[in-house]
Amino acid sequence: MNFQLTEEHLAVQSAARDFAQTELLPGVIERDEKQQFPSEQIKKMGELGFMGMMVDPKYNGGGMDTISYVLAMEEISKIDASASVCMSVNNSLVCWGLEKYGSEAQKEKYLTQLATGEKIGAFCLSEPEAGSDATSQRTTAEDKGDYYLLNGTKNWITNGNSAGYYIVIAQTNPELGHKGINALIVEKGMDGFVVGKKEDKLGIRGSDTHSLMFSDVKVPKENRIGEDGFGFKFAMSTLNGGRIGIAAQALGIASGAYELAVNYSKERKAFGKEISQHQAIAFKLADMATQIEAARMLCLKSAFLKDQKKDFATSSAMAKLYASQVAMDVTVEAVQVHGGYGYVKEYHVERLMRDAKITQIYEGTSEIQKIVISRDVLR
Ligand code: CAA
Repeated sequence: MNFQLTEEHLAVQSAARDFAQTELLPGVIERDEKQQFPSEQIKKMGELGFMGMMVDPKYNGGGMDTISYVLAMEEISKIDASASVCMSVNNSLVCWGLEKYGSEAQKEKYLTQLATGEKIGAFCLSEPEAGSDATSQRTTAEDKGDYYLLNGTKNWITNGNSAGYYIVIAQTNPELGHKGINALIVEKGMDGFVVGKKEDKLGIRGSDTHSLMFSDVKVPKENRIGEDGFGFKFAMSTLNGGRIGIAAQALGIASGAYELAVNYSKERKAFGKEISQHQAIAFKLADMATQIEAARMLCLKSAFLKDQKKDFATSSAMAKLYASQVAMDVTVEAVQVHGGYGYVKEYHVERLMRDAKITQIYEGTSEIQKIVISRDVLR
């Protein structure tokens, strides 16, 4: 056992913290209000290596480990969870999936641009009638010889408009159930591909969440990831890693709100002393600190297992389940510590509280994480 971060880990953490403070904090309230995607900030994150952190340098990536990724995700998410979900999907679901399962040609063509943030990726699994029940894909990819004919609608797609490349999960052979599903790389601008309505969301309002429509889109066969019928396994496997990213996002939202609450409690006076000196507040802070530390340990443990090439499906589900609950609990308490000030935008904690909720929903609801964990426990 070694709980010590390396010099490299500390350097990544510090770079992400500096970037979040100097580049993301100014304007974060306005972007949330106006539902403005942080394009300029994401471009800079690409230049700093945050968009393809774990990708091999030969494909323009940062060549870092998953622990570094968790540390960076936490720091970015403390300040701007809209930027961090874009980062998480690009790193975990798109870059990682392509690097692990894509062909050499796909890596050369797509991964090299995604790893630098020159292009952003989207992962398209959810549908109007298939969210948690991911095997029930209605989108079809009909095999036409040298191409697939793609038809259907995807919903709730993060980076829906800002992406250049989309990994789309679709049913090719319904008789084979999940073994008849494929994952295809679709480029923005392909004939028949239309970006639909933007969702007006409770939180992560700076991220662009859209529906997507595919109508007779011809996707070349060479854009299929893996063997015929590998699409569902591809989605499940990438989601295992994606859940580490979202767990780290939840952790960051919680620790961001906690830090604000600690600072505020040392400044604000009531009944003749700083409110941090009242046990009612001090005990809240103690609970928050303990929950955050436990969530951080689960995130880092899961990242460690992934880096060690051990099975991490259950641990990533546990990390996401727990960290997202902590994000909810801690942000609600952080608002409470701030009293009336917590309820207004200027103090940031109300936004973090709104942002926290999605971490219990996307990349598998908390109930889905419990399915994954309980199946393992009962195996
Ligand atoms: N890792 C690897 N393989 C897995 C897996 C996992 N976590 N879960 C299932 N599989 C494999 C199984 O081993 C099985 O393979 P075999 O047939 O070879 O044995 C196959 O996949 C089918 O598995 P199940 O029979 O268990 O499938 P199921 O229908 O019972 O569903 C589920 C399992 C866990 C509920 C799954 O459907 C699931 O995870 N659903 C949630 C989907 C989800 O997370 N959606 C989020 C959308 S993406 C998103 O939010 C991104 C964003 O924009 C932020």
